[in-house]
Formats: sequence, C-alpha cells, structure tokens
Amino acid sequence: MQQKTQPWALVIDDDPALLALVARAMRGEGFVCETAEDGEVATKKLSARRYDVVVVDLRMPKLHGHAVAVELLKSSPGTMIVVLTGLIEPKLARDLIARGVEDIVFKPTDPFVFAAKAKALLQRCHDRKEREEEKEGEIARARADSEETVGRLSEHETEIEESYTGSVRMLASLIEQMGRMQGSHAVRVEETAEGVAVLAGIEGSELRNVKVASLLHDIGQFGLPDPVRSRPPWELSPEERKTYEKYPTIGVVLLSEVCGSKPLIEIVESHAENFDGTGFPHRKRGSEVSLAARVLRLADGLDTYLLFTNQIEHWEAARRHLARMRGSAYDPEVAELALAYLAEREARTREERIATVPAEKLRAGLVLAQDLYDESGIFLARKGVRLTEEMVPRLLSVVPGSRIRVYGS
Ligand SMILES: [Fe+2]
Repeated sequence: MQQKTQPWALVIDDDPALLALVARAMRGEGFVCETAEDGEVATKKLSARRYDVVVVDLRMPKLHGHAVAVELLKSSPGTMIVVLTGLIEPKLARDLIARGVEDIVFKPTDPFVFAAKAKALLQRCHDRKEREEEKEGEIARARADSEETVGRLSEHETEIEESYTGSVRMLASLIEQMGRMQGSHAVRVEETAEGVAVLAGIEGSELRNVKVASLLHDIGQFGLPDPVRSRPPWELSPEERKTYEKYPTIGVVLLSEVCGSKPLIEIVESHAENFDGTGFPHRKRGSEVSLAARVLRLADGLDTYLLFTNQIEHWEAARRHLARMRGSAYDPEVAELALAYLAEREARTREERIATVPAEKLRAGLVLAQDLYDESGIFLARKGVRLTEEMVPRLLSVVPGSRIRVYGS
C-alpha cells in the first residue's frame, strides 16, 4: 500500500559532500529530507519530531552512530533505520541487525541507488506492519468470537441447569403433596443447605448435587408402608422405627434407576447419619459421611425451626437447636457455619416483610408466604415458591380477587 503523506527522512553523516548527495537523492524519491552532520545534532532533531527513515553513519565525532541507532530503536520503534558506513566489524553488524536495524549499506554506494533502496525498504516495512495489524485484528476478532461463544454456552448451561433444578423442584413438590409436610419442606431444605454449603466452600457440580439431593432426600419415604409414612417418627413403635430408618436406602434404589451420579446418591443415602454415629441407615460417623451430606443432615433437621421465620422466637429456637445438636447430630464446624448463615438470613428476612396483596398485584420474583388453593380447594402452589413470569397470569386466572400473603412485596 502506498503511503498517503510524504515520508520524512533524516540523513546523519559527518561527510558534508556525501550528506548533501544522499539528501538530494532521497528528496528525488519523494522524501522530505533533513540532515545532521554529527550524532549530537541528530539527537536534537530526533527528539523534535518523528522520522519514517533514518540513515546513519557509524564513525562520527561526538556521538557514535551505534549509540544513535540504539537510542532511536528504543524511543521510536516504528522508525526504519539504515546504516550507511565505510567499514564495520561483523560483530557490530550482527548486533545492529539483531536489535532491529533494517539494513547495512557499505560506502561507496551510488546515492540514487541507495535512495531507491531506502524507499523500497520503507514500503516493505509498511506492508509488513499492515499485515501484522491485519493479523492482530483477525486474532482480536477470533478472540471476541470465542468469548461470545463461551458466553452463549455458559448462558445455555445456566438455562439447562435451571431447567434441571426446576424439574427436580417440581418433582419434589408433587411428592410432598402426597405427604404430611407443611409448605415445601424440600424447597426450604434446599435453600438452607445451599446457604450453608456455600459458606462451607462447596461449589460447582457439588453444590448442584447438594441442591438436588435436598429436594429429593425424602423420596424414599414414599416406599414406606402407609402406617409408618403417615405418622411422625417419634410416634412410631421400635419395630416401625426400624422400618422407617430404611427410607434413605429406598430413596437410593429409586434414584439409582434415573440418576447415575454417585456423589448425589451418597448425599441422599447419608443425609440421616449423625455426626456421632447414632444416625441411620448405616450408623456412619464424622468424616465417613461427605461434607455435603453433613450439610444436608443439618438443613433437614433445622427446617422445623425455619418454618415461621418471620417470628423472632423461631430464630432463637433455631440457634438453641444448633447449640444442642452440635457434635451429636451435626458436625460442629457445619453447625458453626449454620449460625453465620442464620444471622445473615434473619437480617434478610427482616427486610423482606410479609405482606398481603390482591392477586392482581402478584408479579414474578415474589415468594409465596402461604400454600395456594383455588376456591374449590384444589392445590395450586406451595409456600416458599418464587413466582415466575409464566406462573403469574395462570395463578391470576384461577384465583382472581383473592388476597395472598407474599414475601418481598
Ligand atoms: Fe426431610
């Protein structure tokens, strides 16, 4: 590509006759050409403006051409330097070329041939620079493309993740409708377990396993005979209690058919094991159980105390419960994290007061503070569910005119 403006050249040589000749020849090739008779004058001119080409002699009074070239390479890396010299040691020549001097031309030389060569060299330099910039542009575009692709992939991954967890949550909700749980036990346990797990440093797929295991941890209870399933554990006879303690194992059998994730299955299987080895089904203790399962054990046990978290006494009861059970049912370190989690959640809940709003005011993001039924008593949604864009118009169509208790209005 041709240069759009006239290129600037500086010729530095202590031979006035040669200096004048080379300058004339350079101007003939279209350069705006200035001259300097020694290194010092050259240094002043070089600090005053930028030149496209600098032609420099080596042996000069006051300042050697090598020093001028080295300084110029540092201060103006885009300037093309050509050495025009009578004599040069091979070592010095190698050094100059290695540092970035474009060419070394030996005197005597025809000044006009030299000027034509300087012009051609400059054009080559421009072409090379242009190619490099194009390449850099291509690399930058490719990087931007790949970043965009990674961004899109991670968006899809989040969508798939949310849809997977959402499906499991729906399944948990359906299961609970057949049970004796109040509100959505599984969803509440998921919220607590996730909060404590994050404080315990659990992340990524392990955190996902904690959430899914929380939602499905009681699934095995539906394999229990009705008289055992329908009553609270403390009302069971010793014989019935033995049957009840099989539910984590039943859960694992059910889950194994649809889910091959061993860590997830281990969490479900061990979520009722106590830290001191008095839990069930295998009487495992301490670190024989994964950290994730120890977190779920605590979140499950704590849930009763978090049912009515808008009441101060429940927060206090929850803290007393943790103090009582740390070291027996719960891992003391996990119990410590749970105290920190409770403090944070209590502060958050105080800000998110419960309000009663007309159904027409329902919007995505609000959390139900009550189970929701239609006029004929048909169940619609559980307490604790966060409303989505899709749910709002559908709920509105079946409960128009109702007043509904929600968090975070
Ligand atoms: Fe449970």
